[in-house]
Amino acid sequence: MPGFSTRAIRAAGRMPDTPQPPINVPIYASSTFEVADAAELGELLEFSRPGHSYSRYSNPTHEALERALVELEGGEAALATASGMAAVHGIVLSVLRAGDELLMPRAVYGGMVGLAQAVLERTDIAVRSVDTSDHEAVAGAIGPRTKLLWLETIANPTTAVADVAALAELAHARDVVVAVDNTFASPALATPLALGADVVVHSTTKYIGGHSDLIGGALIGSADRVHAARRIVINAGGNASPFEAFLALRGLKTLALRMERHSSNALTVARALEVAPGIAAVHYPGLPTHPQHVLAARTLRDGMAGGMLAIELAGGRPHGEHFLQRVRVAVHATSLGGVETLVSHPASSSHRQLSDAELSEAGMTPGMVRISIGLEDADDLIEDLVAAARPGA
Ligand SMILES: Cc1ncc(COP(=O)(O)O)c(C=O)c1O
Repeated sequence: MPGFSTRAIRAAGRMPDTPQPPINVPIYASSTFEVADAAELGELLEFSRPGHSYSRYSNPTHEALERALVELEGGEAALATASGMAAVHGIVLSVLRAGDELLMPRAVYGGMVGLAQAVLERTDIAVRSVDTSDHEAVAGAIGPRTKLLWLETIANPTTAVADVAALAELAHARDVVVAVDNTFASPALATPLALGADVVVHSTTKYIGGHSDLIGGALIGSADRVHAARRIVINAGGNASPFEAFLALRGLKTLALRMERHSSNALTVARALEVAPGIAAVHYPGLPTHPQHVLAARTLRDGMAGGMLAIELAGGRPHGEHFLQRVRVAVHATSLGGVETLVSHPASSSHRQLSDAELSEAGMTPGMVRISIGLEDADDLIEDLVAAARPGA
């Protein structure tokens, strides 16, 4: 008879029988998986046999999320990662080599600039920025070294909408791979692979999770492209956590409903803010005044334009800071895509080191505030945001 410790360890690791499958995918909190022999382990580590060996390589909860994203985004394969930036890193380093160039939008999520400055700067991978709403400028910026064009379906923070189909055609004619960050739209509003993108990336931290309670990411594309990115992510340690993957799966179930409400709330709020005192401009793709409104209406599902909007306060930087101190329903916090309305002021936070001229170069203004419209009652949001924007002390 084995000793108590041996029996306890064996007993506590025995799998339950589940003839009735659970409604939710279990959290497979196991770093490793038992194999029959060395050959099996070798094949698993090479991904030449289905199954799992070690959770930095793959895990059943990650796999469930990956399969769901493949189905919803329309690719062949997917990879769940530790964060949106881990997915971005996996794509960038699997597509580009020393000597190549990444072409990205002038107004882009700050993490891309961080990746360029903190990581790519140490390599011989060059980075160039261009206004991706100007297709002639994009064509002119593609040089012999350009191998990857980065796009955001809806840009962070300016809300510019990318014409993925036209830009993919232009890029493919020059043998440039097209990656689209679909975080702001989510697969409920847009599926860039169907428009010609080669790979899609998400911060599942945002709309897919939907409740500001996880950090995660994913990339979706052809089997080869995802396999190449997986090799980078595995070796750099950017794998997802099974618990976060579970939360992302739970979020997916209500994504469509949430995006409907985010979109209708954001449109109602945007219309009210357009005529509110102290607000110089409202950027929201659902408004007819938005430069890509027609493109948004044509390419985003059912005319929905998502929950992200940017406003420009007439009083510049100090007005932006004041606005943040005055909100009562909205919360001053970075991030987006959750049930609660979040506001942030790039000029005094993520982009505080930039001068007014540099902000303008990046497509922003000193008084620009980014608002992630949540699922609260629209009237409460309007009252709060209009009061916060009012000029004067
Ligand atoms: C558009 C966009 N892409 C990627 C990311 C990075 O995601 P994560 O913070 O999960 O790494 C963010 C985060 O704010 C984002 O807004």
